[in-house]
Amino acid sequence: MSDALTKHHPDSPNGCDDVSRNDSGNLDFASVLEARLSRRNLLKGSFGLAAGSFMSFGLAGCNDSKSESSNAFSLGFSAVAKGLTDELRIPGGYTFTTLYRLGDPINTLTPSYANDGTDTAASFQFRAGDHHDGMAYFGLNSSGLAKDLSNVGRGLLCMNHENITQIFLHTVAEVGAGFPTASRVVSQIDKEVHAHGVSVIEVVRSGSFSVNKLSGFNRRYTAASDMTLSGPAAGDDLMVTPYSLTGVATRGTLNNCANGTTPWGTYLTCEENWAGYFKRQTSASLSSAKETAAQNRYIGSGASNGSYGWANPTGGDTSGNGLYDRWNISQTGADATADYRNAANTMGWVVEIDPYAPASAPHKRTAMGRFGHEGAQPAKAVVGKPIVYYMGDDSRGEYIYKYVSTQNWSASDANGGLTSGDKYLDDGKLYVATFAANGSGTWTELNIADAAIAAAAYGFADQADVLINCRIAADVVGATPMDRPEWTGVHPVTGEIYVTLTNNSDRGKTGTTTGGKSRALDAANPRYYNDGEGNTGNVNGHIVRIRETGDDHAATTFTWDVYLFGAEDDQFGNTSINLSGLTDDNNFSSPDGLWFSQAVPGLMWLQTDDGAYTDVTNCMMLAALPGKVGDGRTVTVDNLAVPANAGADQSVTSYAGKNATPATLRRFLVGPKGCEITGITETPDGKAIFVNIQHPGENTGAGVIGTPASFESHWPDGGSARPRSTTIVITKDNGGLIGS
Ligand code: FEO
Ligand code: CA
Ligand code: CA
Ligand code: CA
Repeated sequence: MSDALTKHHPDSPNGCDDVSRNDSGNLDFASVLEARLSRRNLLKGSFGLAAGSFMSFGLAGCNDSKSESSNAFSLGFSAVAKGLTDELRIPGGYTFTTLYRLGDPINTLTPSYANDGTDTAASFQFRAGDHHDGMAYFGLNSSGLAKDLSNVGRGLLCMNHENITQIFLHTVAEVGAGFPTASRVVSQIDKEVHAHGVSVIEVVRSGSFSVNKLSGFNRRYTAASDMTLSGPAAGDDLMVTPYSLTGVATRGTLNNCANGTTPWGTYLTCEENWAGYFKRQTSASLSSAKETAAQNRYIGSGASNGSYGWANPTGGDTSGNGLYDRWNISQTGADATADYRNAANTMGWVVEIDPYAPASAPHKRTAMGRFGHEGAQPAKAVVGKPIVYYMGDDSRGEYIYKYVSTQNWSASDANGGLTSGDKYLDDGKLYVATFAANGSGTWTELNIADAAIAAAAYGFADQADVLINCRIAADVVGATPMDRPEWTGVHPVTGEIYVTLTNNSDRGKTGTTTGGKSRALDAANPRYYNDGEGNTGNVNGHIVRIRETGDDHAATTFTWDVYLFGAEDDQFGNTSINLSGLTDDNNFSSPDGLWFSQAVPGLMWLQTDDGAYTDVTNCMMLAALPGKVGDGRTVTVDNLAVPANAGADQSVTSYAGKNATPATLRRFLVGPKGCEITGITETPDGKAIFVNIQHPGENTGAGVIGTPASFESHWPDGGSARPRSTTIVITKDNGGLIGS
């Protein structure tokens, strides 16, 4: 499902040029470093940095023999060609099997999936949800009873179900003309609610992997499951609902996109595009300026029935406990104990699940801030140092955040489950990133004690308010609006942080702001172009890369460059678009999923969620062996057609990483029609990877559900079947490392 924030536009190719000019003007690393250090020295007063910190960066950057991740591993497969066929393509010498498809039962009592819309709403509490997304593998011991993180043959797979493709969940009769109606059939709402959330399933390898339907660990969390609110905003007035008069609990986790893990063996599932699900009145009808500002910044100013109309069951909410009314955040009662005006404040969090504790309620970690969470990836845990997470907020012009725990890591907490989560994730500092034109950057803490935050026109009441409305706090401290921050990843060898910026149709457009967020070009978001096919702005996306000062993840300053810029075939010769020297074997558009193998240090996987290059190729996954910040060159990006600039050149200086080559970036997989590739994990030996194929056939139009010949995709079941989001497992036929 594409909503207003994730929508792309179809386009078509137009020609191709030489790539060699991309290398012109390259500077070696020492020259770049020298140039950048002198720029920084000029500016150091305004950043409050000491010269010593530049030198320590320089030493770390120049002498870091460990940081080129080439080590013993090299990419050994043949690049997979781009293409538009309705199949899943991987390199020769590799095999994939399907493991877990939309609707597959997780126990032996639930019938096989009919996949024709007749499967009941209640059964979806025991079936795979839809739109498989982020996931992680947690080893079980050989008896299947306890944690053993090293076991490559038996484990628990935790998996997000981000969203639904409505027409594939209901019968032909139900999704006829006029679907969905403004008033929704209760059983349809229930099915859609249960198709969201998270799966925990035990997987066992016997030859290939399969789901152990007898496992006592198997369970679903849905958009109706009980959740604990935890951390500084739990119990705040803004969290009070009729469901929890003390504001310490809520129902449901929603639009679970990317993910993370913890050093204590738990799963983090992250709530992204939750805002659109709520029914609401216009912000003008809210009772205070604060409520209006908060709704405008997070949800929008207009009235809405919510994306799926879950607040409008036929005949009204007769559940007796607000099961449907909770999707209506309009002010209908006297206060927050009498309506669900605060329900949206209980969404938008990082949610911790202990895979090994089936009876435990997930904890929403409010110290990590509320926004359109994409993922939460940790820096390597070091005894005696804080636990640190990097997080993106995926909307046009939103920010990159990090969380630094107050408590320092103790290895004795490695088996503490949610109790360790309480210790490290309920008490810490939330920071937001500002990227400077000279290649440096700062992390600013979002704290009610900050003068700018305390003085904000919004009128923050306390730190809980800052966390619930951290976008507004980030606005006033001058965070840099980015081109839709998606997944984050921390390179296990260099410690550098990678963030995919998928695309931004707003970037560089006429006028300077959208909703108060800058649309101007800047060094970290330097591209505006028109692809000639209806797409403008940063059409193909890029990946920014950060090195913390002194390699300290708690640092408040950093340096950065752009690791890769996406580009299509027809831009190969344009050195202001194809800034990374991409070729046919490795070009891509709209990077989204990004994940570092833990078994093969330095091996990175990139996945796309694209709509700009889909005239040429379905979405894809690539393998990469990235270098490090500063391994490329300073670039001048000519943005020749920026509308705000009346067509004149608006050149921007930026920093491009070393050009990609087939040795450092190579296409590994191309998915079936209408899918997004998102979510990846591995067995601890790196010899099997799990990959999610989300919403194949997404572009099948409403009204053709009764005519399967018109389906865009029938993957994976083939024939005339409805398509299904699916987890696949990929192994190498000779038993080797994936990617080798
Ligand atoms: Fe769920 Fe931003 O992708
Ligand atoms: Ca999607
Ligand atoms: Ca194109
Ligand atoms: Ca995503």
